[in-house]
Amino acid sequence: MRKRPLLTAVALPLALVLAPALGAGGAAAEELVAYEVVEGAIPASLTGVPGDPEAGKAAAVHRQKGNCLACHAMPIPDQPFHGEVGPDLSAVGSYLSEGELRLRLVDSKKINPETSMPGFYKVEGLHRVAEKFRGKPILTAQEVEDVVAYLLTLKGN
Ligand code: HEC
Repeated sequence: MRKRPLLTAVALPLALVLAPALGAGGAAAEELVAYEVVEGAIPASLTGVPGDPEAGKAAAVHRQKGNCLACHAMPIPDQPFHGEVGPDLSAVGSYLSEGELRLRLVDSKKINPETSMPGFYKVEGLHRVAEKFRGKPILTAQEVEDVVAYLLTLKGN
């Protein structure tokens, strides 16, 4: 009888360690929306719901989502660090179309196979992905639409 608390003490932490690992491969995997690439662009919205630029800005800055500032300068002065790996995005909405921006976000490698920019709406070919994120795109289809809407507001000075 006195063995019981000891068994619980061992079994509970073990369950806590195993539960997330077992959960990851199962129900989590999300079906990606099918899309068509036409001449370097994805002309059609992934969701049919107009993107929200404010939500897009938040997703772009968010470290676990877009994390765009790791590689790009953007006109968001309250954020301390802006990367230089990719081009400055301050006027990107003035020279790339909605569909061109959408393809760059969804899967930049379809434009430049060598790019270091991650595909934000794909589940294969992602490196350094933590177990709990496997099988899921970095951004949801609606977050892609939101970020596209935000980028379209960036027209430079
Ligand atoms: C790991 C670095 C990295 C991250 C993170 C990254 N990008 Fe990029 N991005 C690049 C590089 C490098 C390029 C240059 C084009 C190429 O490599 O093909 C680029 C190009 C672009 C372009 C085309 C710009 C132009 O002038 O043609 C857009 C738009 C863009 N990125 C948007 C984003 C957005 C929005 C995010 C966040 C959701 C993001 N990127 C995250 C590296 C990154």
